[in-house]
Amino acid sequence: MRLHHVPVLRDRAVELWAPTSARRVVDATVGRAGHSLALLGRRPDIRLLACDRDPDAVEFVSRRFAGFGRRAACVHGSYGDLLRLIEIWGGGPVDGILLDLGVSSPQIDDPARGFSTRHDGPLDLRFDRSRGVTGAEWLRRATKDELERVLRDFGEVPRPRRVATAILAARERGELETTGQLREAVMPVAGRAGEPPAKSLARVFQALRIAVNGELDELDRLLASLPELLAPGGRIVIVSFHRLEDRRVKNAFREGERACVCPPELPTCACGGDHAWLRTITRRPLTADAGEVAANPRSRSARLRAAERIPDRAGEAPA
Ligand SMILES: C[S@@+](CC[C@H](N)C(=O)[O-])C[C@H]1O[C@@H](n2cnc3c(N)ncnc32)[C@H](O)[C@@H]1O
Repeated sequence: MRLHHVPVLRDRAVELWAPTSARRVVDATVGRAGHSLALLGRRPDIRLLACDRDPDAVEFVSRRFAGFGRRAACVHGSYGDLLRLIEIWGGGPVDGILLDLGVSSPQIDDPARGFSTRHDGPLDLRFDRSRGVTGAEWLRRATKDELERVLRDFGEVPRPRRVATAILAARERGELETTGQLREAVMPVAGRAGEPPAKSLARVFQALRIAVNGELDELDRLLASLPELLAPGGRIVIVSFHRLEDRRVKNAFREGERACVCPPELPTCACGGDHAWLRTITRRPLTADAGEVAANPRSRSARLRAAERIPDRAGEAPA
């Protein structure tokens, strides 16, 4: 089992997240602290607050941060709640926020977490095992329509109706409590022709994980609170691994750049045309180069987008 997580796009993420003027930054998905430790090692002038939804990650990182004294702290919680979480720091706004979405290698490798398509274990799938419903519980309650939508929208699973039917048949037989049972249920129907089975299974597990953890809702909450979270000149850097996440980030940045917020039916602008509060730094998402992909195949689907709060309006939050 891997205890280590190789941080994706580490150096570019760290540079964008904490420019030289930054003093207080947040790592909102700290995991094993690969990005955070790289930053703390380079920048003695920075104070860092980290959070993670997984209590195991928080415990691990709190130990790693012990040597940094008051410069670094780690708290348990979801980035959707970041406004509340940063209250322990005396509140926002902050100079940089990093989100590195998805699952860490130690989480995937631990059979007890239910993220692994390979090892057998309870079908948990929660980032935070102290609350919420497990994957097995979620599947016990899901309707066929709901399951089909989740498989299609969150996993881009081919023939989602057929896969949903196979899953519900396993539920009828009482065989949907473990990752192995889910694997057995979907294996005959989930794949594309010629595709390695691991890839087909990964799409199903990903879809269920996103549903169980409400991942897109959490991302939407974070994106909606950016105007209050970011100081003028403050940066938001998001590494995503899924088209749905990346699209949300791109659209939120675009929305923040909109100067005119008049309804489209108005023939001329009546709002003053000065509502832009965000500037996208990465016109196209940054991706891992061939060397990084070869060393860390997980980086293949990473997309990094960064934006900066326009530094002129003296911290005034947009309407
Ligand atoms: C890809 S890992 C981050 C790895 C980290 N950058 C590193 O270098 O070690 C993603 C982390 O996000 C956490 N996570 C997932 N959803 C979250 C949420 N809503 N709020 C906070 N953390 C979350 C996971 O528990 C996991 O530890």
